[in-house]
Amino acid sequence: MARCEGLPLALLVVLSATVGAAGPGGTCGRRLKTLVHGALVVAPMPPNITGKWVSSRCEVRPGPQFITRSYTFKDNMDFQTYQFFYADQHCVSPLYTVTAHGTIILRQVSWITRGGTEADYWLETVSVTSHSQEVSSYLSARVNATCPGFIPPDRLWYNNVPHQVLSRRGERDCAAGLDFVLHELQLLRVERRQDARDGHVTMELFLGDIHTDRAQRLLYRPTSYQPPLVNVELSYPNCTTCKIVQDADERRPPVFKTRQEYPLHLNGEWISMRCEVRPEALFLTRHLVFYPANQTWEGWYAHYSDPSCRHSTFSIHASGSFTRGARSSVVEGGTEYIFQVTQMRVTPQDSDTTSLLNVFHGQGCGDGGIWQIGREQDVTSTNGCVALGITLPHIEYELFDMERDMYDRLLLYIGQRPSDGTSPTHPARRATSYQTPLVQCLPSMDTPDIRTNMGDSNISRRCTFNTVLVCLSHAVLYVFR
Ligand SMILES: *[C@@H]1O[C@H](CO)[C@@H](O)[C@H](O)[C@H]1NC(C)=O
Ligand SMILES: *[C@@H]1O[C@H](CO)[C@@H](O)[C@H](O)[C@H]1NC(C)=O
Ligand SMILES: *[C@@H]1O[C@H](CO)[C@@H](O)[C@H](O)[C@H]1NC(C)=O
Ligand SMILES: *[C@@H]1O[C@H](CO)[C@@H](O)[C@H](O)[C@H]1NC(C)=O
Ligand SMILES: *[C@@H]1O[C@H](CO)[C@@H](O)[C@H](O)[C@H]1NC(C)=O
Repeated sequence: MARCEGLPLALLVVLSATVGAAGPGGTCGRRLKTLVHGALVVAPMPPNITGKWVSSRCEVRPGPQFITRSYTFKDNMDFQTYQFFYADQHCVSPLYTVTAHGTIILRQVSWITRGGTEADYWLETVSVTSHSQEVSSYLSARVNATCPGFIPPDRLWYNNVPHQVLSRRGERDCAAGLDFVLHELQLLRVERRQDARDGHVTMELFLGDIHTDRAQRLLYRPTSYQPPLVNVELSYPNCTTCKIVQDADERRPPVFKTRQEYPLHLNGEWISMRCEVRPEALFLTRHLVFYPANQTWEGWYAHYSDPSCRHSTFSIHASGSFTRGARSSVVEGGTEYIFQVTQMRVTPQDSDTTSLLNVFHGQGCGDGGIWQIGREQDVTSTNGCVALGITLPHIEYELFDMERDMYDRLLLYIGQRPSDGTSPTHPARRATSYQTPLVQCLPSMDTPDIRTNMGDSNISRRCTFNTVLVCLSHAVLYVFR
């Protein structure tokens, strides 16, 4: 309970940290707070994953692979998963479908990714259904190559017929030829999200992330999440893509309509829509501003120690220049950019981070020894901050894409960070998939600032007095600090 009562104070510190037109104190900074904290989010522990969960958009996996997913979990923890793979970024041309049956067992709360639950799974059967004759030939040749003799000579694979590649009853595991694993089931989190304004409730299932290096995929144990699947019973009322995926199976894969391409125009401010998780359990919100006229940008990154982004650890203000490159020849729909970070300011927001920064006396990170909670220091002159692993100037090779969501908001997709914790400092390390999108902050967004503050204080009041569930679920999370 003490944690919940401390909440308004934590928000106050963040809000008062910087004041300006753009940035945490500006209109978009306050809108970011509404988006991240304005909805009542509960993450029940242990999560109840019973039900059917589907993709709400055409997802991009490292590779790239274009995919939609439809996963069903029964009360007895048996599951059936469909992964539908496509040739294009709009999920219009299905290639093949991988169907898996198995059992999942939820284990303990994750020590690495706070707020997540670890799980183990066993596969009963895996089958693959190709949706064209070329894909049938290609996949059967791959399975035949990694599992010699599995496909009898002269036994052709037909399209739209499921072919089993794994079965626990005696036969061999030949799913490796398809690069198929379901390690995403090893880390999960369910969020029940109630919109502060219209009261609408959605349930989202976050499953473990996929390693950005495809060679690591078969071994990687997830430490963050993919875009969430939505519960078909409690999904967004206007999610037509969810309904298309919900009704599909391996013989009738979901086929989306080609969506309009949005020419990238980065103008303006872009903010996080939720508390984001990066691999190795870094929780943060982002607020980016681009000035295409002089090709400069600035960004505020607020870091937190908890999955609800309540307890600030430190914030960074970074700025620099960017140049736009060509359309990506690797990831259809993507556009390449080069970003340079030339200036950076750091503000420690808790005593742990402050002590950490003060360890570096001298030239490691700003003026060592004088760091104080809530006091910003420019670390440009010390070429960044050793303690935070940031060296300036810093160049990143980026991949961007843009699309409109079901509420007609413009979303900005920025390349996924490499799963090994490094940065894309070389063109060859450029991402082939995307992070959680940022939403465009428009002057016309219908959120008066007064309401923003009310939303925040109402949540803390609900937490303290009314909704035992919220406080309890938080308490469970904090045991594993
Ligand atoms: C989990 O959710 C399902 C479907 O919403 C429900 O039928 C079931 O009772 C829930 N189980 C528990 C243990 O709450
Ligand atoms: C499988 O591979 C073998 C060679 O390793 C080849 O002789 C055979 O024709 C292949 N079978 C199919 C169905 O592709
Ligand atoms: C859903 O769509 C209807 C009609 O297209 C629209 O009136 C309504 O506002 C939409 N609801 C949401 C939550 O966007
Ligand atoms: C670039 O343009 C923006 C907006 O016009 C301005 O605020 C910023 O100071 C400019 N940056 C540089 C380096 O000139
Ligand atoms: C916050 O609480 C006040 C008083 O209880 C109420 O009048 C107001 O409608 C609430 N605001 C929101 C956004 O729920």
